[in-house]
Amino acid sequence: MKIRFVLNHKKVEIDVDPLKRLLDVVREDFDLKGVKERCGEGECGACAVLVNGKLMNSCLIPVAQVDGKEVLTIEGYKNTKKYKIIEEAFLEAGAVQCGFCTPGMVMAIEALLSQNPSPEESDVREALSGNLCRCTGYNMIVDAVLLAALKGKGLW
Ligand code: FES
Ligand code: FES
Repeated sequence: MKIRFVLNHKKVEIDVDPLKRLLDVVREDFDLKGVKERCGEGECGACAVLVNGKLMNSCLIPVAQVDGKEVLTIEGYKNTKKYKIIEEAFLEAGAVQCGFCTPGMVMAIEALLSQNPSPEESDVREALSGNLCRCTGYNMIVDAVLLAALKGKGLW
């Protein structure tokens, strides 16, 4: 079945099993390896992408579900000013260790800040509650988000 959607700001079309997971389509068919797989069950957020601006776990979505929609992965977000602010804040707060969770975290942070540019700590914790990190204990990530919100004032 032909599926057409916008991937990282470009129109794409793919002839594919409509039930193939969006995660596998972006990784295998479009070589976007920033989208990670850990649990494969919607529990960890490693595979998170934005679909029409909404945070979704791509391991749970059959690709047919994004037909006609806009999908943004970390690769399409990386060259934005907002990403740079988040990256700097992560470095400053020491919020990256192995980095496996980071792409999904960043997508969750974008989803949060685009809705709520000045979040409280509790908002951040709630927004990141679907993203698991095995390394950092979360506090440094929360600090990074609050820092990014401050440094990026006016951007979101
Ligand atoms: S791999 Fe998709 S939520 Fe864990
Ligand atoms: S930095 Fe290793 S899982 Fe988060």
